[in-house]
Amino acid sequence: MIRVIFLGPPGAGKGTQADILARHTGATKVATGDILREAVARRTELGKIAEGYMKRGELVPDDIMLGIVEETLKELPDGFILDGFPRTLPQAQGLDQVLEKLGVHLDAVVSLVVPDEEIVRRLSARRVCPKCQATYNLLTQPPKEDEICDQCGTPLVRRPDDEPQTIRRRLEVYRAQTEPLIGYYRGKGLLVEVDGVGPTDEVARRIRAALGLRSR
Ligand code: AP5
Repeated sequence: MIRVIFLGPPGAGKGTQADILARHTGATKVATGDILREAVARRTELGKIAEGYMKRGELVPDDIMLGIVEETLKELPDGFILDGFPRTLPQAQGLDQVLEKLGVHLDAVVSLVVPDEEIVRRLSARRVCPKCQATYNLLTQPPKEDEICDQCGTPLVRRPDDEPQTIRRRLEVYRAQTEPLIGYYRGKGLLVEVDGVGPTDEVARRIRAALGLRSR
């Protein structure tokens, strides 16, 4: 069983790699961005609050995010992979308290290292299906037919926060509010840094090696 956090700038591949590690280990991926996007799509109270922050590339307030994560982790005694949480120091400190209450500890924090120019290249090429939420990348993982979803035939769109000016804002927010967590977790002896550039499978192998997991 593993309990791991994926840390990294927008577009570093946290979601992609968390999915692969979840398949490999059986742990559940908890992606706060996915939880919020679903809430926005379903027009729930949470979605109505989160939508404006997300469109601007800003962070949703800490107390809301901590509440969501606490409720989710209670249901996951068999391990988890946190993708996109924590993103601020108060979220990290709040998570420490939640884990203490649950009587569990983190195994590692994987920091994916990817330069800004590669991030902008990846996010500018990402497309999502507005109907079934399948995701594609025009450079690395294109749909079979031009900008049409392979699974349901719907025309693909850009994620609203993947517009160039919002990508830049997300990067600024990451540097100011999330990057300090690298030092926080290094201080706790939990940080493992992994080069996130290269083919997806290769990055996944590096992560398993850094976590001391055997490749299958
Ligand atoms: P969230 O959904 O978490 O977005 P993000 O962190 O900006 O991350 P992305 O999903 O853009 O990137 P990723 O690192 O997961 O990379 P991915 O695998 O998708 O959050 C969205 C918003 O929600 C936030 O801005 C905020 O408003 C709010 N929010 C969420 N959590 C919050 C929190 N805790 N507190 C407050 N607010 C919160 O890959 C990106 C692209 O690159 C894909 O197209 C993929 O195919 C491609 N790719 C992946 N790996 C590779 C590779 N090795 N080589 C080439 N391309 C690759």
